[in-house]
Amino acid sequence: MAKTTRRKSEMKVLKWGAASAVALALVSGTAWAEGVTVSLSAGEKIFKNGKGDAVPACVSCHGDTGMGNDGMGTPRLAHQGYTYLVKQLDDFSAGKRTDMTLGVMNGIAKGLSDQDRRNVAYYLHTLKVKSELSNLDDVKASGKPVGTAYEGEVIAKYGLQAKGVSACLTCHQYNGRGAAPIYPMIGQQKYVYLVNQLTHWRDGSRANDPMGQMRAVAKNLSDADINNVATYLSQAPESTEGDSYQYTNSPEEGIKVTP
Ligand code: HEC
Ligand code: HEC
Repeated sequence: MAKTTRRKSEMKVLKWGAASAVALALVSGTAWAEGVTVSLSAGEKIFKNGKGDAVPACVSCHGDTGMGNDGMGTPRLAHQGYTYLVKQLDDFSAGKRTDMTLGVMNGIAKGLSDQDRRNVAYYLHTLKVKSELSNLDDVKASGKPVGTAYEGEVIAKYGLQAKGVSACLTCHQYNGRGAAPIYPMIGQQKYVYLVNQLTHWRDGSRANDPMGQMRAVAKNLSDADINNVATYLSQAPESTEGDSYQYTNSPEEGIKVTP
């Protein structure tokens, strides 16, 4: 008990940089290890055609452009960070994360070899596409509640101090565009997927976050907070490489890319 309390107070004083260094040490090391070679064409083939009987084409659920689908609850994968994507596929395969939406990703990830996962993740992270935002009118028409963007913007940018919720953008960066290798892009992610993940972090049914960072954030969010922040993030302004913050979703150096 005393030990837990001490660890908690130590966690609080960790600044973002130090926290991310520790988290980096905790995420899977294989994705960016020296000597890794990836094939873009092999990755594209998996994305478009799947692999054998066990692995259906990713496009059939994540969309031709890899931008996700609110009706199915699938996330946008296009331009997501490479290391983050490899980690999720590894976690699905190892049972550290469970697909509670369609119950398919664990089997799909198991059907891919380590090399397949790197190939498809690398291909996906290079996909640069035009915005394809969630249509919140359609979401509402399907019976799911939608929040208020400006209230969500406050949570994303400043957090909710009274409830101990940190600002999302301290970790997920400007417009939620992500910070490779650890922090995924959450800006312009699909609304239904965002709500599902935040709900799962909150009840602990998704627990593959390094150092429990997301569970600590989500445990103090109400249903309304979740809908509000997901509304803002799903429609967040696009961040371009030309703006004043350095933007990268690129993996660590040392990866050899073949066509
Ligand atoms: C039958 C539908 C279906 C197919 C086919 C499918 N997915 Fe998924 N995928 C999902 C769903 C649903 C989720 C969300 C799971 C959840 O809510 O936790 C998901 C989540 C993911 C995630 C997690 C993304 C994140 O932001 O954390 C990755 C990575 C992923 N899929 C990759 C793939 C790849 C690669 C393929 C093709 C080899 C593929 N998926 C094929 C339905 C599918
Ligand atoms: C202390 C750092 C930190 C803060 C603050 C933070 N996050 Fe995260 N978040 C993470 C990490 C780390 C992950 C990746 C977990 C993993 O590896 O599976 C993550 C993942 C997520 C995901 C899952 C993305 C996906 O593609 O599946 C969502 C959604 C998310 N965060 C939303 C938020 C929101 C909303 C807030 C603010 C209310 C927030 N985060 C604040 C660290 C943080």
